[in-house]
Amino acid sequence: MGKVFVTRRIPEVGIQRLMAEHQVEVWQGQDPPSREILLERVGGCTGILSMLSDKIDAQVMDSAGGGLKGVANFAVGYNNIDVQAAKVRGVQVGNTPGVLTNATADIAVGLILAAGRCFGPAIHNVQRMQWRNWEPMMFLGQEFEGKTLGILGMGRIGYAVAKRMHGGWGMRILYSARNPKNDAQENFNAQRVELDELLQQSDVVSIHCPVTVETRNLIGQRELALMKPNAILVNTARGEVIDQQALSQALEEGKLFAAGLDVTTPEPIDENDPLRLRDNCLILPHIGSATDQARNQMASMAAENLLAAIAGKPMPFGVSMT
Ligand code: DGY
Repeated sequence: MGKVFVTRRIPEVGIQRLMAEHQVEVWQGQDPPSREILLERVGGCTGILSMLSDKIDAQVMDSAGGGLKGVANFAVGYNNIDVQAAKVRGVQVGNTPGVLTNATADIAVGLILAAGRCFGPAIHNVQRMQWRNWEPMMFLGQEFEGKTLGILGMGRIGYAVAKRMHGGWGMRILYSARNPKNDAQENFNAQRVELDELLQQSDVVSIHCPVTVETRNLIGQRELALMKPNAILVNTARGEVIDQQALSQALEEGKLFAAGLDVTTPEPIDENDPLRLRDNCLILPHIGSATDQARNQMASMAAENLLAAIAGKPMPFGVSMT
């Protein structure tokens, strides 16, 4: 029997699966465990089930000790884990791909519509009892039928957003990605273009790439200046892909119509970040995968990953360690 530390409460299905074979401690705090607590609680663990908010680096792995076999992230993104440090220590790393694709794509579509149709200020208007009359000139938004959607990163989630917006709104799809995506080309007539062209031509830009050395601050002042003044920028991937200060300035100066963010840097967003209270920036607290269905499946997958690693088998949903 091994020892497993689960850094937050997750759906029971995952916990029960782990408890059937191992001694499991689940952190019950409302907030993530502090660094100090994390380092202490992983001591002697064979497995760690982590969240995207936990930095799992060499120090954490070394605090676990030589018996650590696997780190299973409760997320598809795993930029919080030092995969190289895991590799040299013979620790497997796993994630939860596929099961949150639809949930996250739905949130991206929701943000496109909500940012484009001024849901944020319109909802505040009602909540503050400022709704006086039917107004012919208030909260005028954008329509999407036949316009152009630029997908930055045509992986599973980018594809699912393209499918929704092409099928439902007849949007023309452009995408930028390292490799051509034949299924998107065949099914939505999607056209692969360079990033600058995508930004210049798109009415909506939706970000779906992981955060890497190449994509950190990929959308900065220069890139925002290339976008159409009526464009909408949506990010459901990782906050670090956008230079938030540059976005704030672009929105302030009317260089974009609106932004819709499910992710920010840091998370939660800084209280004093000017984006937080902007009318034309709709921000959600990273709820892309927040459906019962997705979270239950994520819990099962993360548990299966750890069980396999502790048993000395390859994780069924292991990440590439090259
Ligand atoms: C992920 O899985 O990476 C999402 O950001 C959270 O579910």
